[in-house]
Amino acid sequence: MKVVILPGAGEVARVAARRIAEAVRRRRDAVVGLATGSSPLGLYAELARQVAAGELDVSGVRGFALDEYVGLPPAHPQSYASVLRRTVAEPLGLDPGRVHVPDGCAADLDAAAAGYERDIRAAGGIDVQILGIGANGHIGFNEPTSSLSSRTRIKTLAPRTRADNARFFAFPEEVPVHCLTQGLGTILEARELVLVAQGEAKADAVAAAVEGPLSSMCPASVLQLHPRAGVYLDEAAAARL
Ligand code: GLP
Repeated sequence: MKVVILPGAGEVARVAARRIAEAVRRRRDAVVGLATGSSPLGLYAELARQVAAGELDVSGVRGFALDEYVGLPPAHPQSYASVLRRTVAEPLGLDPGRVHVPDGCAADLDAAAAGYERDIRAAGGIDVQILGIGANGHIGFNEPTSSLSSRTRIKTLAPRTRADNARFFAFPEEVPVHCLTQGLGTILEARELVLVAQGEAKADAVAAAVEGPLSSMCPASVLQLHPRAGVYLDEAAAARL
C-alpha cells in the first residue's frame, strides 16, 4: 500500500486526481468506480477543472457507484444516483447514462445486487476505484464485520453511519436503514484503489486501516491486500500514523 501524506485537502485532491486522469489517458473508455461522501468532492472538482481546461477527455469513461441507499428513488436529492449526477456527471460533462448505480428501489434487491456484479464484469471490471473512508473504517457501505470477500449485497447501515449522514437529510429518521453496496471482494477486484481522507475525524480510521491488523472490524484494512492501493491523506487525517 502506498501512503501519501500531503499538506492539505487541495493537494490531496490534485495528487489523487492525477491517478484517475492517468487511467483515463491510458484508456479512453476507462471504468472508474465512484464514491460519494464529501471526501472525493475536491478530486471530482479537480477532474472537472481539467476537463474544462481541455486537459482531459472523459467522454468515453464509464462510472460505477460503490453503493446506493435502499428505498430512495433516483430522483431523490440524497440518492447516490442524484449525488453522482450533481457532483460527477454534470461537472465533468459526462453523459449520466454512463454512470451506473445499484437499484436500491428494486422489488428484488438480491437480484439487483447480482445484476450489478454482472454489469461490472460485462464492462471489463473497474480500472480505478475511488474510495473515501467512514469514521468507523467503512468503505462503500461495508460496515465493520463485513466479510472480507463479500460481493454486492444488501447491508444494514451502522447507527454511527446513519448519524454521520443525517446532516444531508431534514430529519435523522429520514436516513435510510439499508443500502446496496459493492462488497469488499468486489472492491478488491478493481485494478487500482485510490482512497482519499482529510481531517482529524478520519485519523483513527486511517490508522486502523493502514497500520492495524487486517480485520473485518476495520473494512478499509482490506486495502493492505491490494497490489495497487494508494491512500492520499492530508496531515490531519494522517495524524495517528
Ligand atoms: C458514506 C459513503 C462512503 C464514504 C463515507 C465517508 O456514507 N457510503 O462511500 O466514503 O461514508 O463519507 P465522507 O467522505 O462524507 O466523510
